[in-house]
Amino acid sequence: AVERTLSIIKPDAVAKNVIGEIYNRFEKAGLKIVAARMIHLSREQAEGFYAVHKERPFFNDLVGFMISGPVMVQVLEGENAIAKNREIMGATNPAEAAAGTLRHDYAETIDANAVHGSDAPETAKQEIEFFFKADELCSR
Ligand code: CMP
Repeated sequence: AVERTLSIIKPDAVAKNVIGEIYNRFEKAGLKIVAARMIHLSREQAEGFYAVHKERPFFNDLVGFMISGPVMVQVLEGENAIAKNREIMGATNPAEAAAGTLRHDYAETIDANAVHGSDAPETAKQEIEFFFKADELCSR
């Protein structure tokens, strides 16, 4: 089925100036960008976005990293978009990410791991709504 998923290019990858390289990977895989925005998250926004991880030991480092610089946020649309984006990203820990994946090619550590992608339909819906209003999505 055609799905939408929320993708974030994290501060490390924005700083490396590889937004275009990453967009190229999405497009080559048949995913369309139907909304996009650059934003420097506040601490409150980052804590809200990652609220599900609030009790995890890595929460504070994660939030600190996500507010260390601007991020690029986009909605990707396409057949099987949620799983496809996760395949393109590779494993959460770049040390375990397969060759040719974004995290293998652009990420350094499990915190500075270049990209985020929704993990399931319900979280995709919530995460898209966190950043975009319905009329900001351009179906195409
Ligand atoms: P992301 O997909 O953005 O979702 C939560 C983030 O927490 C994850 O990518 C990692 O960057 C970060 N993180 C740090 N440590 C861990 C860990 N042990 N397990 C999962 N995620 C972690």
